[in-house]
Amino acid sequence: MAAARSRKQSPAPLDVSVSARRAADCPADWLVLPLCELDPARWRLPARAQAVDRALSGRIGEVLSVGDFRGRRGQTLVLYPGEGCKAERILLLGLGEDSELDAEGLREAAGRAIRAAESRGGKSLAILAPSSRRLKTSGVAQALAEGLVLGAYRFDRYQSNGGDDEPRRRVESAQLLFESGDTRAARTAAATGIALSESQNLARDLSNEPPNHLPPVEVAKRATDVAKEVGLKIRIMEPAELKRRKFGAMMAVAQGSANPPRLIVLEHNAPKKGAAGSRGRKTICLVGKGVCFDSGGLSLKPSTSMVKMKHDMSGGATVIGAMRAAALLRVPHHVVGIVGAVENMPSGTAYRPDDVITSACGKTIEVQNTDAEGRLVLADCLHLARTEFDPIATIDLATLTGACGVALGSWSAAVLGNHERLVELLIRSGEKVGERFWQLPLWDVHREHMRSKIADVKQTGGREGGTITAAAFLWHFAGDGPWAHLDIASVADSETGTPLHRGGATGFGVRTLIELLHEIGEAKL
Ligand code: BES
Ligand code: ZN
Ligand code: ZN
Repeated sequence: MAAARSRKQSPAPLDVSVSARRAADCPADWLVLPLCELDPARWRLPARAQAVDRALSGRIGEVLSVGDFRGRRGQTLVLYPGEGCKAERILLLGLGEDSELDAEGLREAAGRAIRAAESRGGKSLAILAPSSRRLKTSGVAQALAEGLVLGAYRFDRYQSNGGDDEPRRRVESAQLLFESGDTRAARTAAATGIALSESQNLARDLSNEPPNHLPPVEVAKRATDVAKEVGLKIRIMEPAELKRRKFGAMMAVAQGSANPPRLIVLEHNAPKKGAAGSRGRKTICLVGKGVCFDSGGLSLKPSTSMVKMKHDMSGGATVIGAMRAAALLRVPHHVVGIVGAVENMPSGTAYRPDDVITSACGKTIEVQNTDAEGRLVLADCLHLARTEFDPIATIDLATLTGACGVALGSWSAAVLGNHERLVELLIRSGEKVGERFWQLPLWDVHREHMRSKIADVKQTGGREGGTITAAAFLWHFAGDGPWAHLDIASVADSETGTPLHRGGATGFGVRTLIELLHEIGEAKL
C-alpha cells in the first residue's frame, strides 16, 4: 500500500528506567534537578541536590545566591558542570510551591525536562526524583514516567526529516534517580506510568493519523495489532454481519462512504468458552465513537469546520488505548471495548435528512441532520454492549457535539449519565489523573424532548443545550443500567501546546478510564 511505503517507521519509544546511582556519577547528557521554590534569603537545597552541589564545588549554590533561579514553576536554568559531575549539562527545573506539588506538577516538570533536553540536543537524561509532601515514592515515580513519555510524544511519521533541515533530535533514554531503599517501589510505579502513557500515546497516534491512511478497515487492523501485542480477545464485524444484526443506525451513516465500516470488539479477561458468565468478574463496557472522518454527510460541514474532523474517532482511539492499558496493568475485571468505526460522507448512496431508520434495538429514528452521525453509531454500539455483555456499567466516549466546546471550552470534558454514583466516580477518577470532567444535567424532560412525531426518537434536539440533547438521545439506547456519556469534543485535540502535549490529538480519557476501572472494584455502584 502506498500509504505504508511513504510512512516512516515509528522510532522506538523513550526508554525509561529507575536507578539508585549517585546523581553526580550519572554519565547522562543531561542531569535534571527539579527544585521547589526557594526562599531567596534563606534557601536550602534538598539533601540529594546538596550532594550534587558539593560535587560541583558549590556552583549551584552560587547561582541560587545570585537569585537567577528561584524554583518557580516552569523556570529552567542550564549549567555546564565540567569536572566533578559526569553529566554534560545540568538543568535546574522549577517545581513551584512545595506544599502545592502534586502528580500533575511532576508530570509537567518531566515533560518540560524532556523538551529542554530535546531543544538543545542530547540523547540521555537523568532526573533526580524530588520528594513531595503529597505523594509517596510510587506516586512520584509514576508521575515522572508519565510526564517523560507524554512529553516526548510527537506525530512526525509523515515528515521526511521531522520537518526540519537537520535530522530531528530525540532523547532516547531517561533514568529516574531514587534512593536505593525506594527503587523497588519506584520501578513498579514507573512501569505503570509507562504502560498508561504509552497507551495514551497510542490513542494520540490513532487520532492523529490522516483519514486517507486510517479508514475503518485500518482502525480494525491497528486494533488487531494491539490485541496481539497485549493479549486481548478481538472480534471484528464486517458489513454483512452488521446488516444481519440489523445495525441500521450505524449502517445508515456508513452507507455514503466508499470505505466500509467495521465494528470492533476488544475483550480483556474474556470468560473462557463454555464457562458460565464472567467467573465472578464484573463486566464493564467502554464504547467509543470511531468516525474516521466527519464531512457532515449531505448536511455538509462548512470547509473550515471540516478541518480536523480526522479527530472524530478520538473516542474510539481512547477506548483502544484504554483496552491496551487494562491488559498491561491486569485490571481485575472483564472489560469490553466497543468501537464503531465508520466514515461520514456525502454521496448518491448517503443517508438523508428526513430518512427514518431502524436501529439495532428496533427503535426507529427520524434523521434530521446527517452531521449528527456520532449518536447513530453509538446507538447501535450501546445496544450491543447492553444485550451481549450485560455490564455493571457502560461508559461511552465521543467527540459528539460542537456545543460541548461552546459550553465548557477546552478546559474540561462533559459528563452526563443516568447514574449519579458512576458520574461521581468518573469525575473523581479524572481529578486523580489530571483530566477534568464537568457534569451537565440529564433529566427525564430531556429524554422526553427527543420523542419524534413520525418515529420513536428524533435525532436532534434543536438549538438549545446541544450536548444535553445528544446525551438524551443516547439514553434511549443505553437502557436503564448504569451508563455515563463523556463528550470529549472540547478536549480531544488542541493546538495550544502544553509541556505534555505539542498539539494535535491529546489522548484524553485513557488515564481516567483506567483509574475508574481500579476504583470500580472497591466502589459499589
Ligand atoms: N463531530 C461533530 C462534533 C464536533 C464538532 C467535534 C466540533 C469536534 C469539534 C459531530 O458529529 C457534529 O457534527 N455534531 C453536530 C450536531 C448537530 C448537527 C446537532 C454539531 O455539533 O454541530
Ligand atoms: Zn457530525
Ligand atoms: Zn462527528
